[in-house]
Amino acid sequence: MSVTIAPEATTPPSATPGGPASTTRSAAAARERTADLEQLIVQNPGAYRVLTGDRPTGALHLGHLLGTVANRVRLQNLGVEMFLIVADYQVITDRDDAGDLPATVREVLLDYLAAGIDPECTTIFTHSAVPALNQLLLPFLSLVTVAELERNPTVKAESEAAAERGGRGTSGLLFTYPVHQAADILFCHGNLVPVGEDQLPHLEATRTVARRFNQRYSAAQPYFPEPDALIAQSPTILGSDGGKMSKSRGNALELRATEDETVAFFRRAKTDADRAITYEPERRPEIANLLQIGAYFTGTSPQALADEVGSAGAGRLKTLVTEAVTEGLRPLRARRRELAATGSRHLAEVLARGNAHANAIADRTLDDVRDLMGMRY
Ligand code: TRP
Repeated sequence: MSVTIAPEATTPPSATPGGPASTTRSAAAARERTADLEQLIVQNPGAYRVLTGDRPTGALHLGHLLGTVANRVRLQNLGVEMFLIVADYQVITDRDDAGDLPATVREVLLDYLAAGIDPECTTIFTHSAVPALNQLLLPFLSLVTVAELERNPTVKAESEAAAERGGRGTSGLLFTYPVHQAADILFCHGNLVPVGEDQLPHLEATRTVARRFNQRYSAAQPYFPEPDALIAQSPTILGSDGGKMSKSRGNALELRATEDETVAFFRRAKTDADRAITYEPERRPEIANLLQIGAYFTGTSPQALADEVGSAGAGRLKTLVTEAVTEGLRPLRARRRELAATGSRHLAEVLARGNAHANAIADRTLDDVRDLMGMRY
């Protein structure tokens, strides 16, 4: 199966072929496809365009780095073209107060650049600066039903989480956000989206939108690709309380944290009552988490690290992991401080360039879409 896109062309790139068999995908199928894709990417990185991103709710943390950011840097360095969306409109899907967005966006940018995202090859842009992307939401919304949105597991989960946090009802923007994400991905003909397995329903929504658009308006030659999920191999990183690391839980180790804060974070980290260290992710999630973090930064496997620590126990493990993280993040933190010290001009320029590039592409896509829909007057 060949996936080709012509990023700069105004003529529709050939969309992902697939037919009915590829339209609904189980997690197992997506995992299998991911293994194939990993090989195809190495052979021909130029055939792929990745769209991914984050909602700017705070500085990035260790969970972001190990979960997504390191993988993005890897793909970028393999030569895959990447669009990185700072999804500012998504911040207000489930809260009234977006906080100090300029400050937050700046922190996220600093984290991206310090982690190795290179704005010379990766386009970093914000939702709100690309009107044509957002306008794609209108035709796309016509392609899905309310019932489908109601069934979307991520919309359900996000609505429940929002209700727990503030008792706020599901906003229209939250309700439609799988379709907004379809616009995020399809405006630039993204054909590869790195996701966690729990995000697969989202991508399925994007594939559905692309397929229906093609069927309705561009049957002779599919205009939008049906993007593939690239399932992250990385484990979910836990915070100091044993729950999934997240800004909103207050259990995160931010990348920008000081060495003292790093030491304190791991001192607080939960362990369990067993003396000997073993790698048993199901039975001993907190220990497994420390092993995974330590292994990542020392370039070994969690199992090997567990064998190394063995009967020396959790205290020894924490010391090792703290040292590994402190050492491992030192260059990133140094780059981050340097970038922060150069002032905001550089960051503003990076974003302005990214936004201009994203706008040029979004304008072309919206133009094509108007043509295909017979809205040329
Ligand atoms: N929802 C993602 C997050 O919360 C950010 C995002 C917005 C995104 N649009 C996207 C991710 C499109 C992948 C594809 O972090």
